[in-house]
Amino acid sequence: MLRSRRSGPFWCGSRTGIDAQPVIQFEHVTKRFGAFVAVHEAHFAIGEGEFFSLLGPSGCGKTTTLRMVAGFERPTSGRILLDGRDVSRVPPYKRDVNTVFQQYALFPHLSVYDNVAFGLRSRKVGAAEVRRRVGELLELVRLPEVADRRPGQLSGGQQQRIALARALVNRPRALLLDEPLGALDLKLRETMQVELKRIQREVNATFVYVTHDQAEALTMSDRIAVMHAGRTEQIGTPPEIYHRPATAFVASFIGNANLLPARVAGRDGQRFTVDVAGAGRHTVAADAGPELHTVPNGTEVLFMVRPEAMMVSRQEPAGVGGRVAVTVTDVVFAGPTLRCVGHTAHGAVLTAEVGPHGLSVAPQRGEQVWLSWAEAAAGLVPADVTGPTGLTGAQPLVEPSGPPGERI
Ligand SMILES: Nc1ncnc2c1ncn2[C@@H]1O[C@H](COP(=O)(O)OP(=O)(O)O)[C@@H](O)[C@H]1O
Ligand SMILES: [Mg+2]
Repeated sequence: MLRSRRSGPFWCGSRTGIDAQPVIQFEHVTKRFGAFVAVHEAHFAIGEGEFFSLLGPSGCGKTTTLRMVAGFERPTSGRILLDGRDVSRVPPYKRDVNTVFQQYALFPHLSVYDNVAFGLRSRKVGAAEVRRRVGELLELVRLPEVADRRPGQLSGGQQQRIALARALVNRPRALLLDEPLGALDLKLRETMQVELKRIQREVNATFVYVTHDQAEALTMSDRIAVMHAGRTEQIGTPPEIYHRPATAFVASFIGNANLLPARVAGRDGQRFTVDVAGAGRHTVAADAGPELHTVPNGTEVLFMVRPEAMMVSRQEPAGVGGRVAVTVTDVVFAGPTLRCVGHTAHGAVLTAEVGPHGLSVAPQRGEQVWLSWAEAAAGLVPADVTGPTGLTGAQPLVEPSGPPGERI
């Protein structure tokens, strides 16, 4: 059931939780609120010691999925297993999982020490053991010096570290984290991402992490489930999801993607020839996803090249995998990179993101330049024209660029 989607390239060798003992299993889990389907047929397992993220836009069903694991919601159909045991009828407090929320939910009238000790004391753990464990957890989150303070005397980042210590003190089988860094500013969030990952490695616990922030999920996760409108669109390691998105939604949601409607024209083993709308015929060294292995010629697909894989040049480049001439419509300075947007003669909009060595003189609006890419940088994505992304096969699509520097 938990087969990795792809095999072959370097990124498929990473830990995927497939071999690990599953701690959490979703078996055809659907959750309805009245007629509304919040989670549709979730069917996957999370392995022991995995950092597993549920990633998707607001409202896609992440929190609902997590709450079903915690026991705050019951599946409408399907089962959830913890350590192989069906917990559908087990109340939250009897499940060996803990949740960390965006709001720190610390007891304001208790000291940091007592907050962390709370779970141990309610389990009647002896005083010496409580002292030892609380000390250990405060060391783990690198805040041993604040034991006597009240939560109100801590910064947001510190409070979230204490919330983490409190949630881990009982050594739960899985820690569920619902956008735990959402209230922190960007710099602190980035620091905490590294910290969370370190803590997870040190305690070797199973983390289920909910976020709508793709950069966050890519940074921290062993595997990611990308959710969209209640459905799991793809499960894979960060490089799998980034380099070989299984759907147009995943391609656009994770990073930026140049996606152009194309048609399969032929195939020679692992190499596809495709006719790309407005950009001619190209070869794609597609270790394309298995969903594309059997498609007949003429099938509509989407041709994908990531902006950072695009090269920009004034002369027509030779010896490249593919190239297309564009008229520059926008040049955005984004710090380490320059974002260059242009349109082809057929109106397809393409974005290139080039580093400092890309071009000695920045392109100007209105100028004609060549965008090119290595054969290995091009990919194919199934054109699910009826799918929830609302893509129509006739329309070139480019993900709107964020504000300067946002993704760098
Ligand atoms: N108790 C509820 N009653 C009705 N609708 C709900 C309830 N909880 C969540 N929903 C709806 O289910 C969808 C998914 O919600 P949620 O799981 O919170 O999404 P996410 O965490 O991905 O933002 C949303 O449209 C939300 O409005
Ligand atoms: Mg949520």
